[in-house]
This record gives sequence, structure tokens and C-alpha cells, in this order.
Amino acid sequence: MIRVSNLVKTYKKRRSKKRITAVDNISFEIREREIFALLGPNGAGKTTTIKSICGLIVPDKGEIEIKGHSVLKERSRALRNISVVLEGSRNLYWRMTPVENIMYFCGIRGKTVKKSAALEILRELGIEDKANQVVHSLSRGMQQKAAIAVCLAAETDVLLLDEPTLGLDVNSSVEFRRIIKELSNRGKTILLSTHDMNLVEAVADRVAIMNKAKIVVCEEKERLVNLFTARGYKFRVKSNGNGEIEKLKSLNPTSWKKDGDVIEFHLNLASSGNLYQVIETLKGLQLEIDTIEREMVNFEKIFIEYTSS
Ligand SMILES: Nc1ncnc2c1ncn2[C@@H]1O[C@H](COP(=O)(O)OP(=O)(O)O)[C@@H](O)[C@H]1O
Ligand SMILES: [Mg+2]
Repeated sequence: MIRVSNLVKTYKKRRSKKRITAVDNISFEIREREIFALLGPNGAGKTTTIKSICGLIVPDKGEIEIKGHSVLKERSRALRNISVVLEGSRNLYWRMTPVENIMYFCGIRGKTVKKSAALEILRELGIEDKANQVVHSLSRGMQQKAAIAVCLAAETDVLLLDEPTLGLDVNSSVEFRRIIKELSNRGKTILLSTHDMNLVEAVADRVAIMNKAKIVVCEEKERLVNLFTARGYKFRVKSNGNGEIEKLKSLNPTSWKKDGDVIEFHLNLASSGNLYQVIETLKGLQLEIDTIEREMVNFEKIFIEYTSS
């Protein structure tokens, strides 16, 4: 559905001749009907990537295709298939109501939307009672819903959502997770950027983690979680009082503690082959193994592992 190839974007630094690389040669594909998350800390290059896809900025290098049409060479054909909610609150006219925004923005795209149709979309999103209030009087969560309503009225196959839960309270964030899932069930292809790991954990099919302008990993979410779950082990061994803790440290445990004569420690192993080596080492130290368990991981741990360089 979307193909980004070798995208590079640099910006001129303010009051300086130097340039900073916001996006450094990234490539990825988004499949039809999937929820694809661009996860990364602030400044990683997520917004720049999204703005390049929707044609708002021209990349220095690289190619972007939407349904086989080049954003650079066949702009209007490519962009016909996507709508976008950008980060922050500049997606709507604040002096107009949600209904007026829907009719106005669809009009720009050459699409006539009846008032009844606009109301129906607002009803689906649960803000029909705000249909005729000016946008600037609405809460952040409602404004965000109104911006999504404008996208839905355009009836594009692809939605780009930049930080959709930023600045929302917990309840609205949870509601947005439901809305995003629901849109996906209706057949939309969704690219969302976020630094909200709970959102990724709840809705994403695939995840690209961005850090310092590069994609450091791009994987099915389930696979990513399984990969990490397979690597983390918790060991409990019986101490034999021979200064074995110093020797255990040679295994580089991520943490350890001693409780009576039981030592508990955690290891991240690159492959299951290494597990046998650890067991050999424990045998050499004459430590009796009590238990070995695989550790469950949460997404936060994965994120930190990839972005803490
Ligand atoms: N218009 C701009 N001019 C100069 N630098 C920019 C501009 N927009 C973004 N940047 C810089 O590019 C990098 C990536 O920014 P951005 O794409 O907004 O990241 P993210 O959305 O992941 O937080 C940051 O270092 C940011 O300061
Ligand atoms: Mg951003």
C-alpha cells in the first residue's frame, strides 16, 4: 500500500550552515489493512517521515509510492488515497464547527459531503452532540476525534496519524485505541507514529522502531515480543557459600539478588545455545539449579533496548 525507499531528509540548522539529518536512508513497506506503528523517542524523525509520505515536505533523496503511484512524480494520484492527522492542533479550522470542517475539507478535495453524512460520522465517533460547536471550544480529545472525522469523510483507504494520543487524558487514550482498532477492522490501512508504547502494544500489527533518524528494527509486533521473551531468563540456584557471586558476575547478569542460600539472577541470552553454556558454567561452580524460567517482556523493555544507544 505504501512503499518508502531510501528516504533521506536534512534540515538546515538555524543560525548555522550545518545541516541535521532528520531521516537517514530509511525504507519500509506498509501492507494493505495493517496497523503499522512508527515508534520512537522525540526527535527520532517520525513526523518528518509522515510529512514526506503525505507530500508536505520534499525529501532530499528517496522514493515514496502509495498504491504504486509516486508521491513525487504523480502527486495528486498518489495523495488521493490518503488522509492525515498531523501532530498537534492545526488540522482543523478552530472557528468552524466539526460539521463545517468536514464539509470544508472534503470540498477542497473535490468531494461533496451532505450534512447528514457528516453528522453520521460524528455520531460513530461519539461526538454528535458537539457537531455544531466551534472547534476551539472542544476538549483536546474531541478535537482529535473531529480531525479523524474529517479523514473518514474523505473515505481514503489510508490514514496517517501522527501522535494520535499525544496530550490526551487516560480515558481518551484508551478510547482512541478502540477507535483505531475499529478503523482497521473496517479495512483502513493505518500508519501511526507515537512514543506511546501502550498504544503500540494495544493496536499495532507491525512496528518500526526509529532512533536518531534511522529504523533500528522493523518487525511484526508479536514476533518482536516473542524474540525478546525467548532471550530473557530467570535463574534460581542454591548457594554453596564459595564466593560464587563474583563468578556469576562473569555471566553478565542484568540483575541478581541473594536471599538466604538462594541466588536469583537474570540473563539476556542471544540464542538458546548460550543457555547450555550457562548451565555448564553453573555446573562448574557446583551450583545446584533450582529453576530456570523464561521471562515475559513488556514493550517498554524492547523499546529501551533498541533506543538506548
Ligand atoms: N522544520 C525543521 N527545521 C529544522 N529542523 C527540524 C525541522 N523539523 C524537524 N527538525 C529536526 O529533525 C529531527 C526529527 O524531527 P521530527 O521528524 O519532528 O521527529 P519526531 O516526530 O520523531 O519527534 C529533530 O532533530 C528535529 O529537531
Ligand atoms: Mg513528531
